[in-house]
Amino acid sequence: MQNYHWQPLSIQEIRYLMKNISIPWWIAGGWALDLHYGKQTREHEDMDILIRKIDLPLLKKHLGESYELFLANNGSLSKLIDSKSINIQSGSIWVKMKHEITWLFEIMLMDTENNEWIYKRDNKIKRPLSEIEAITEDGIPYIKPEIQLLYKGGSSVVRQKDNNDLERMLPILKKDEMKWLYHTLSQQFNGEHPWLQIINNRIQSILSHALIIGGTGMLSEASLWLADTSAKISIIARDQRKMERLLSKANPDAFITPLLVDYKDSTALRENIRNCIQQNGPIDLVVAWIHSNSNHALDIISQEVAQQGSAWKLYHVLGSSSDAAQIKETAVKKYPGCQYRQIQLGFILEKKHSRWLTNQEISEGVIDAIVNEKSVKVVGTLDPWDRRS
Ligand SMILES: NC(=O)c1ccc[n+]([C@@H]2O[C@H](COP(=O)([O-])OP(=O)(O)OC[C@H]3O[C@@H](n4cnc5c(N)ncnc54)[C@H](OP(=O)(O)O)[C@@H]3O)[C@@H](O)[C@H]2O)c1
Repeated sequence: MQNYHWQPLSIQEIRYLMKNISIPWWIAGGWALDLHYGKQTREHEDMDILIRKIDLPLLKKHLGESYELFLANNGSLSKLIDSKSINIQSGSIWVKMKHEITWLFEIMLMDTENNEWIYKRDNKIKRPLSEIEAITEDGIPYIKPEIQLLYKGGSSVVRQKDNNDLERMLPILKKDEMKWLYHTLSQQFNGEHPWLQIINNRIQSILSHALIIGGTGMLSEASLWLADTSAKISIIARDQRKMERLLSKANPDAFITPLLVDYKDSTALRENIRNCIQQNGPIDLVVAWIHSNSNHALDIISQEVAQQGSAWKLYHVLGSSSDAAQIKETAVKKYPGCQYRQIQLGFILEKKHSRWLTNQEISEGVIDAIVNEKSVKVVGTLDPWDRRS
């Protein structure tokens, strides 16, 4: 690719080009990982889309006469005149405008059978087509990160940027996604691949038991994320129906213990935490969303967790709807064995107005604080306080 001139289309240009096409397609390559990550993390020298091999004639027809397609295979390019008659065994398709020299995007071709995706380097690795896709909030289809990472790690040449991609993506992959990547890479390489140790370390470091207090309201999304990324999670709230609603959205494999207890009731709270540690093992992470008039609840929970004698992290969520000064002045709490972190909820400044955070923004802020181990994370802004709604 180095000797060729590339000016890759943007995601939006690809989306426009693929508008109204009747075949499934997915953004692939480094861009797929960035779509999953939620932002562009590095330069991309190309733009890859993935389609089923059988759909190539339809895509060629859709692109029409203005585009030229070339089969790139073993370092050479050959023009694709009639895609129907070409039996493509390997390689990908490069696309450019007729009479131009700059390449716009690359089409990767996927083998399929009975609506299943088949991994080209080991056809025993398969997955239903419905399970290989993720979609961004604004509707852009992309290939799931663990599959894209398998394509990268499974290649004969793993580049430094692929290693960087793995390192960046691992903290946001779910348990199942990491395990799938581990098993498929291990299968392809008979247990000998440099990524296996890295992925395994990450799987081993998964939180063993997370406790989230007040996890059924605005933090619901954060609770579901913790359920996907920890071995076990316990959730404190009072309302059974709200708890059931949350549980119904969780992955069926998630290990969730609901603790229906009023955190104002110190005796019941202490007893619940004690039983929960006894049943599910030591707690290594606590997310505490406790109303400021019940601060003693945090002390009780922390005393019980600290008694385990092992290290733990506390993410203390502080709301700001009444007073920003109070939030900023909330002292760092000190509990034995605890790494204390604060998540301060502010507001969002828009051109002439300001608004409070949405539940989704709050949960995303909490997840970001945990993934990136922030000691103080301000979600939105706390300044200037007189501009709040
Ligand atoms: N700065 C900001 O932007 C900011 C700050 C704070 C809040 N907010 C907004 O305000 C809205 C309301 O917040 P919220 O805190 O009232 O609701 P919430 O987060 O929706 O609910 C509070 C959570 O704590 C639990 N809880 C409350 N009291 C409890 C008790 N005594 N014992 C045990 N669990 C208890 C609730 O469960 P049960 O109901 O089952 O007890 C729930 O899980 C949120 O939707 C959020 O968007 C915005």
